[in-house]
Amino acid sequence: MADAGEDIFMKHFKALKRKCPPADLTSVLDLDNPGSFTNKISRITPKGVSADSMFGLLPVSEWRAYELLDVPGAIIIRNPFTEMLRRYFVCRCLSDYPRQPNISNLDTSPRIYPEIWQAGCHPNSDLRARKYLHKLRWVTLGYHYDWTKKVYSQESCNDFPQDLSTTTQHIVQAVLGESCDFKAEAAIVNFYHLDSSLSGHTDHSEFDLAAPLISVSFGLPCVFMIGGQTKTKVPQALYLRDGDVVIMSGKARMSYHAVPKVLPKNVFSAAKKSDTPSSVDKNTMTSTVNPKCDDECSKRSHCEEFTEHSSAKKVKHDADTSCFTQLINCVHDTEFWKPYETYLHESRINLNVRQLFEPGKQAKDYCWPTTDPAFNFLTNST
Ligand code: SIN
Repeated sequence: MADAGEDIFMKHFKALKRKCPPADLTSVLDLDNPGSFTNKISRITPKGVSADSMFGLLPVSEWRAYELLDVPGAIIIRNPFTEMLRRYFVCRCLSDYPRQPNISNLDTSPRIYPEIWQAGCHPNSDLRARKYLHKLRWVTLGYHYDWTKKVYSQESCNDFPQDLSTTTQHIVQAVLGESCDFKAEAAIVNFYHLDSSLSGHTDHSEFDLAAPLISVSFGLPCVFMIGGQTKTKVPQALYLRDGDVVIMSGKARMSYHAVPKVLPKNVFSAAKKSDTPSSVDKNTMTSTVNPKCDDECSKRSHCEEFTEHSSAKKVKHDADTSCFTQLINCVHDTEFWKPYETYLHESRINLNVRQLFEPGKQAKDYCWPTTDPAFNFLTNST
């Protein structure tokens, strides 16, 4: 029995984070091999979305989604992305979302390389640019987040990427029902390396604390922990793999969660072929070498997946539709994809998407907290 106020969450976090001696991971739930944990999860059937699929996501009927029985409202969907959309979002997270005016941890001083990914992504990029890319830890989208005061800024806000907004809305409606009108208004893109961790916290800075949180993982697997609304409850640890989506809804919306460990790529050596980045449908690969997403790339014909799902709802994307199509066409190209794949061999990306405002309300309906002077300086200088 835990003492009232004892920080059980932290105790478990430290045990799972430990390097020496190595952490005992036998308490970590593996959704691909639940073994003795079957009484901890219940398989759920996505209930919404009549048009079974959305462009770039697998048909909803094929999703494997589970709810954690000890943390009602915590739902995990095993990679619902086609290989194409998975690659597309990885490219967006690395080459587009870090661009200014979005804000990153590297913006506390003028950027050495304005194009962080483009400068540092190639093995022959200069060492300084590669190190700079390695230092990228987070990027904020939509309403930017002031980490010092732990508040969002009313003034510092950019258009939320339409592709991410449409995709997360579709996922939420598929799982929680079409009446759940999730609106993505802010996101944090977290970049982890093998030595990274994220300690226990709740996300409570949003004005709407009832709308679910959506968290998408790409790249290296990790141990993720989720507990109760206080740190006195024993958390459940589970593995998250490439493409997995966590929805924190209902009571789990305000649950403590953390990432004690990022794991090496080969940790699940018996992983299914479909879990590996090289498993893109061979029919959709082209042999054209095209390291940049340039005009040549946009001339390519649409890939099979595009036509296959052409009757399904399409991802709406940023103002320039051709940008989306261009990138979709590029991601099949082995040479184009190579630096992204290399990055993912050593890193994990987490896209953490939030709704800020209650249904029917907007920014002007709230009294906003003040942001830190350093944050205002940062946002004025980008
Ligand atoms: C977060 O809670 O901000 C990130 C969680 C994760 O990386 O899975």
